[in-house]
Amino acid sequence: MKYTFRSPGRINLIGEHTDYNGGCVLPAAINKYTYITFEESDHFEAYSKYFDQRVKFSLDEKKENVEWLNYVKGALLYTSKYMKKKISPWKIEISGVLPLGAGLSSSASLMVGVVYGLCKVENWEMSRRQIANVAHKAENEFIGVNCGIMDQHIVAMGKKDTFMLIDTLNKEFEYVHAEKFPQMIVIDSGVKHKLASSEYNKRRMECGQVEGITGIKLRQMSLETVEKNKKTLGDTLYKRAFHVVSENVRVLKAIEAIKKSDWENLGRLLYASHESLRNFYEVSTWEMDFIIEKLKKFDVVYGARMIGGGFGGSILILSRRESSEEISKIMAKYESEFDAKIKVYAVSTSDGVQELQRT
Ligand code: GLA
Repeated sequence: MKYTFRSPGRINLIGEHTDYNGGCVLPAAINKYTYITFEESDHFEAYSKYFDQRVKFSLDEKKENVEWLNYVKGALLYTSKYMKKKISPWKIEISGVLPLGAGLSSSASLMVGVVYGLCKVENWEMSRRQIANVAHKAENEFIGVNCGIMDQHIVAMGKKDTFMLIDTLNKEFEYVHAEKFPQMIVIDSGVKHKLASSEYNKRRMECGQVEGITGIKLRQMSLETVEKNKKTLGDTLYKRAFHVVSENVRVLKAIEAIKKSDWENLGRLLYASHESLRNFYEVSTWEMDFIIEKLKKFDVVYGARMIGGGFGGSILILSRRESSEEISKIMAKYESEFDAKIKVYAVSTSDGVQELQRT
């Protein structure tokens, strides 16, 4: 028997680098997927169409030299540990149209997809929330990226036509309906920075230092407190705190804007979020900043910002419907002028991970 699963990528409307600081985030699963198949076998084997590479492996605790395989192995191992059950050997194949390392959460898509798929093929009961938590733990501990909970939660629990407002302080969430939402376009900047995970962990550490020095959790901190502590924190920590605290405020304002279908205001919040990520959190790249500045000149665009961890990856654009062609043309011009390889595509919201078929 061959089982096929489909696991989405995600965009994050607003609330960037707040999910490991107890803040609120507003992601949506999108219609770009990783496909994972499980087939019974007498040994563990994985194939990635992305890399056209097939590898046999054993389910020990050791990390593999093949980087992508660790995401599969970590997901299998941590599910088995969580369930306190042994896994039978499977042949697992990965393919998809979700670009890797583009800030659309390909790693959470793969890991959540493997955990979910494994539960189905082994007939193990696990809630979607538990699946998200296991995939998150595996990424933190096995892969070694100290990421927050946003990506795994949205990949596991996303719902079409909604954004998921996740309060990462207590992991509570609610769905914000977005049926008449403006067009969402993703620009993959094509820049993949090797620094991303070490810088990500560094930002997280800096946030911890802010809380250590002030004795206040970033979630509870006001902008006045950030200003009052400017000298004590020093330039870098002040900037980090300023971003996180102001981003928390922007998320709440964004929800108000969505409720009122006030897309102009929502767009302005996206631009403001980008400015803050660029100037205060310092996780943007000059390519992304350049594109965003260009976009600001076009009336069809409500707003745009970098999404995900940063240091490359993708930009999310909120635009009037039917404008994707126009934006593609603008970007094609940019590409030919600057000899840069970027991809532009319209995305829409999607359901979380699911089983597609058994053959
Ligand atoms: C990555 C992480 C998320 C989140 C974002 C930044 O995507 O996996 O947990 O921290 O960066 O908002």
